[in-house]
Amino acid sequence: MKIHLIAAARPNFMKIAPIYHALTKEDWAQPVIVHTGQHYDLNMSDAFFKDLKLPAPHIHLSVGSGSHAEQTGNVMIAYERVILKKRPDLVIVVGDVNSTLACTLAAVKVNYPIHNSKLKIKNCNRPLVAHLEAGLRSFDRTMPEEINRIATDALADVLWTPSPDGDENLMREGVDKEKIKRVGNIMIDSLEMMREAIEHQNAFADYGLLKGNYGVITFHRPANVDKPDLLSSLCSSLVSISNRIPLIFPLHPRTKKNLQDFGLMGMLEKAESIILSEPLSYTRFMSLIFNCRLAITDSGGIQEETTYLGISCLTMRPNTERPITVTQGTNRLCSPSNIEKTVNDLLNQDMTDYQIPDLWDGATAVRVVDSIKRRWL
Ligand code: UD1
Repeated sequence: MKIHLIAAARPNFMKIAPIYHALTKEDWAQPVIVHTGQHYDLNMSDAFFKDLKLPAPHIHLSVGSGSHAEQTGNVMIAYERVILKKRPDLVIVVGDVNSTLACTLAAVKVNYPIHNSKLKIKNCNRPLVAHLEAGLRSFDRTMPEEINRIATDALADVLWTPSPDGDENLMREGVDKEKIKRVGNIMIDSLEMMREAIEHQNAFADYGLLKGNYGVITFHRPANVDKPDLLSSLCSSLVSISNRIPLIFPLHPRTKKNLQDFGLMGMLEKAESIILSEPLSYTRFMSLIFNCRLAITDSGGIQEETTYLGISCLTMRPNTERPITVTQGTNRLCSPSNIEKTVNDLLNQDMTDYQIPDLWDGATAVRVVDSIKRRWL
């Protein structure tokens, strides 16, 4: 079975790695990594391939940045050519970035004969499409990722979900129950796969930080970093929080550019207890998370990793597509106006009351492979 694994942006690489490694152990599977090139900087892409022991992508579309329509359209055009030439049997898309939707759209619209009757969808001549991390919903359509999630889930043939809310969202949207399979959280597979390397790092010491006594900051969502006033007020809050606890802030390229363009970089650089860094590799960043007191973020994955590790997380967003990290885990939603108070509250209490969600156990890739075998072998 020729299987394309679509990798595009930083959060995708940890999701395809465990699946790729699990598939290479199967003699019936021929996994092929397709990198769309949505993320292309060394430290946003290659560093992750190296860390996660992935080979260089077998196919690279080199699409790069652009507006949403440009990026989505360019990936569709480039990937359609690849599909028509390589004729995969199954396309696995992960997460919710523009390339996830673009590759899904390209795959469900091509037309070529499928000779293996087990892989043939009734009345269709096209590859199967499976979405890993399906069913998540923030119910906020101002987020480009929410549009990508809804459209991808409406089109994919198989929907692998990480948590019960994913199954419920899909069923409410009228998805056939047969298409849905809960497999758990693939990010935890990467974390467990790399645990030894992560624990070996002690990155905090290299930055002169003390174990358990610093916060990790990440912001990259347009809603937080594209407006000068909001970004300025976030920076002021970080400076005052850093008077209580040292902070390390690896800067996403979008955030770095906006801090420079809005004249805000100096405020952070001057703060004695804020360390700014380039984006970090997977093991180095996870080493910082493993040993921190709290994370303040707008990322999706960090909400999950901190819940798994029992570390307090403040998510700077009005909503989350990962509500289980709030109801069961260690995550709290927070707004720019109450960030300082929430941090103070958190620093005064221990995180004891949390539960790791079911199937967040490092065996999601095995369940994905099993799901492929049961359906199509
Ligand atoms: C994308 C995803 C987002 C995900 C995030 C993780 C969409 C809609 N958004 O957002 O869901 O959480 O990745 O990082 O797909 N840039 C570089 N080098 C790179 C990549 C980007 O300099 O390797 C700069 C470019 O100026 C680019 C900007 O960052 O225009 C934004 O990159 P883009 O891929 O469009 O979106 P992200 O904000 O990274």
